[in-house]
Amino acid sequence: MKIAFFDTHGFEKPIFQKENEKFQHEISFFETRLTEQTANLAANYSCVCAFVNDGLDKKTLQVLSTGKTRLIALRSAGFNHVDLASARALGFRVVRVPEYSPYAVAEHAMALILSLNRKIHRAYNRVREGNFSLDGLVGFDLNKKTVGVIGTGRIGSVMAKILVGFGCHVVAYDSVQNLTLQKLGVQYTSLDELLQKSDIISLHVPLTPKTRHLIDERALALTKPGVMLINTGRGALIDTHALIASLKSEHVGYAGLDVYEEEEGLFFEDFSEKILQDDQLARLLTFPNVLLTSHQAFLTKEALENIAQVTLQNISEFENKTDLSNEIGLERT
Ligand code: NAI
Repeated sequence: MKIAFFDTHGFEKPIFQKENEKFQHEISFFETRLTEQTANLAANYSCVCAFVNDGLDKKTLQVLSTGKTRLIALRSAGFNHVDLASARALGFRVVRVPEYSPYAVAEHAMALILSLNRKIHRAYNRVREGNFSLDGLVGFDLNKKTVGVIGTGRIGSVMAKILVGFGCHVVAYDSVQNLTLQKLGVQYTSLDELLQKSDIISLHVPLTPKTRHLIDERALALTKPGVMLINTGRGALIDTHALIASLKSEHVGYAGLDVYEEEEGLFFEDFSEKILQDDQLARLLTFPNVLLTSHQAFLTKEALENIAQVTLQNISEFENKTDLSNEIGLERT
């Protein structure tokens, strides 16, 4: 099948090319992100393969529809960047990779916790400059601390298990309770109780209209002074403006962010020679107790191989007119 592959990155292209030796699809790799302006590149491609910061809004979908694209194959788990109602109305099928490595994301969330707590990011710079002082690097034991896991699906449940292994008391909030986690001692609570009790809070719910700005001024006011906030979910789960205010007032003690509300067009690119135009992001980068990574929680060898395999398989299913195992809304679980 002819695939227009948008927002291509060096870390994924060779893996897709190798995996495609089995599938033999005809892939054109475009570096540009998918937008209303670039969508005409996909004219006469039956399939568009899109990543997390490609924009699949109504206008872009209309251009794709005119160009005879029929399948949107997301090489991501999250699908908040697709206007699903418009996609359905225009007759698109939309598939994704629901699970490629929950371990990759949960382990990165854990890396953010450990780095922030033990100040590894600061220690690294310090010793390289010959400064072997320990002042300002005091952390805390994770053992016996209360950690709130918001969303205990695929990723959140792995996260909860890792935290149990560290000796943490894990409290969780989800609309669905996971019995296996409960047997490990994880306690489900209301959102407000979790916010009030937790020393560390880690976000693992998808971004939906209900979860947008789940962590806002009100929620932050309920948290313990000095709380550590970890977000590997989606940027807009947190109201960045409220977070900055809380960091400035020294209420939030640490923030580990792999995702950012306005990351589209910034994350995954090299802006090191340019002037950063996003003042909120620039402010976040000034805090010594904020650790930002550029949406890399998924980035392990195993995850990339699974993403390539499942994406190409999803496209073959469409081409062969068989059931689509990973069609959004119709997945076999
Ligand atoms: P999942 O669908 O397995 O789990 C999500 C959980 O959230 C479910 O248990 C669901 O019941 C719960 N939930 C959803 N809405 C809720 C609400 N309003 N209130 C309470 N609970 C709610 O998803 P998975 O695979 O664990 O991924 C979670 C999110 O992580 C994805 O949606 C994606 O946005 C993000 N992600 C981030 C990556 C990164 O590289 N930073 C990579 C992969 C995913």
